[in-house]
Amino acid sequence: MNNMYLQLTRNRMISVKAHCCRVFIFFVFLLTLTNAGAQHKNISIIPQPESMKITKSRFTVNPETKIIVHKGDAEALRIANMLAQKFQAVAGFTITVTAADEHPAKNAILFSIIQDDSSLGDEGYRLSVTDSIVHVNAARPAGLFYGMQTILQLLPAEIESPQPVENIVWNIPGVEIKDKPRFTWRGMHLDVCRHFMPLDFIKKYIDYMAMHKLNTFHWHLTDDQGWRIEVKQYPLLTKIGAWRKESLIGYINDTPHRFDNTPHGGFYTQEEAKEIVQYAKERFITVLPEIEMPGHATAAIAAYPWLGVTGKQIDVATYWGVFPDIFNVKDSTFDFLENVLTEVMDIFPGEYIHIGGDEAIKDQWKASEAIQQKIRELGLKDEHELQSYFVKRMEKFINAKGRKMIGWDEILEGGLAPNATVMSWQGIEGGIAAAKSHHDVIMTPIQSLYFWTYQGDPKTEPLAAEGYIPLKKVYAFEPIPSTLSAEEAQHIIGAQACAWAEYMEDTKKVEYMVFPRMSALAEVVWSPAAVKSWKRFAAKMPKQFKRYDYMGINYAKVPLSP
Ligand code: ACM
Repeated sequence: MNNMYLQLTRNRMISVKAHCCRVFIFFVFLLTLTNAGAQHKNISIIPQPESMKITKSRFTVNPETKIIVHKGDAEALRIANMLAQKFQAVAGFTITVTAADEHPAKNAILFSIIQDDSSLGDEGYRLSVTDSIVHVNAARPAGLFYGMQTILQLLPAEIESPQPVENIVWNIPGVEIKDKPRFTWRGMHLDVCRHFMPLDFIKKYIDYMAMHKLNTFHWHLTDDQGWRIEVKQYPLLTKIGAWRKESLIGYINDTPHRFDNTPHGGFYTQEEAKEIVQYAKERFITVLPEIEMPGHATAAIAAYPWLGVTGKQIDVATYWGVFPDIFNVKDSTFDFLENVLTEVMDIFPGEYIHIGGDEAIKDQWKASEAIQQKIRELGLKDEHELQSYFVKRMEKFINAKGRKMIGWDEILEGGLAPNATVMSWQGIEGGIAAAKSHHDVIMTPIQSLYFWTYQGDPKTEPLAAEGYIPLKKVYAFEPIPSTLSAEEAQHIIGAQACAWAEYMEDTKKVEYMVFPRMSALAEVVWSPAAVKSWKRFAAKMPKQFKRYDYMGINYAKVPLSP
């Protein structure tokens, strides 16, 4: 009896122990599931992919994980190495990258170029994550790069830490993604004239763009307040034109104007600019240089007064706004501009050259007898037609060099150059007019995509340009106006946001103004209209903020209103 009791008790005890053990295992399992579930729910890919199916799988990257690329595929190898380097820096372990035509059955990340998958275009990719294999494939290297960016965003945000982070399980939730961009032009602009930005920051800016799958960096290199690119034939452009004696403090309309009494300036040597072009190329970003003409020319005319209309010696501008000094239209000035653009084209191999064309005040042209004489000689009606003549003449030169010209929407005034692409900034109307006359258009309207404006209450926000463009307004921007026919809409090749730097006196302020708005821009230009959702985007942003934190980005802590 006793024995039996004992036996029973033992059995019970054994069974109780086993039960506890099962319950414990069950809870651990549940916890793992919940964790996996949480990670699955917490997927924050920005921009939102074209299509994504979330599965129950989960891949864990560990020191034994292998990255495999096809033999002889140098670009895939380079991109795979970028992923491996991320782990090296943050996880403290090395993942080997191997070029091979075979791969292990499990614990492998595969990067492959499949040339005949034309549905992916030049920039699309497919990404499959199962328990055993992560496979990204694309028709072109750019697609692999974007697939790699998506893998980074599926990983814990800690992957963006520059320093090792402990106790992280590097899980990638199971997904089946097919993704490609909506627009071919996905741009971000930076004005380095109002405030000069160091080379290292330009690289960071390019990294930020790459993370958002943006592909065109519009580098605003010349303006009234500074000429920022070395031109070997005209050294005074940077010796004189890159420097101003002081800068305005406060808002442009504050009276009286106050100045900081501190010289400001800087420029990029051609070697440095080429370094940026290469850095950007490695991240599938094209650099678009902008050389302003015929207005916004104060710094150039300060360097070489014979380029101007009055012939007077002037100073590089020290405050903001538009200025009366404008290039004259002598052949010697066109020679100068062509020589400058020849050097610029040698540095920047991209398809497009931006010639500005905005806000050219024509008072000096009106007042000059020589200019009026030229207008009559050319049989032109007025100064608008003279600007059109100017721009068309530059376009001819640019086209003869095998490149395409872009100008701000003022180049529509007086007649558009035959092959010009228009950047529509004053609104969308210039873009609509250009598209209707079969010209390509990039939408960058001041009302939605100018990141120099406030993102919050001006009373509590740091100084910015007048205007209120919160994250949600950026997100809501639709680049294709509903008034265009399907054929005309084809001419809207994309959109871009502008970061004018009057009120961005250093790199931290640039980050503050640009972030988090760059994340909203990314969905505007990449994600199909049908998958865009403010609610989902807002839900994804906390993880994006965490990434920004690890990257050290000084972003604006904006509310994510419903
Ligand atoms: C511009 O904002 N003036 C293009």
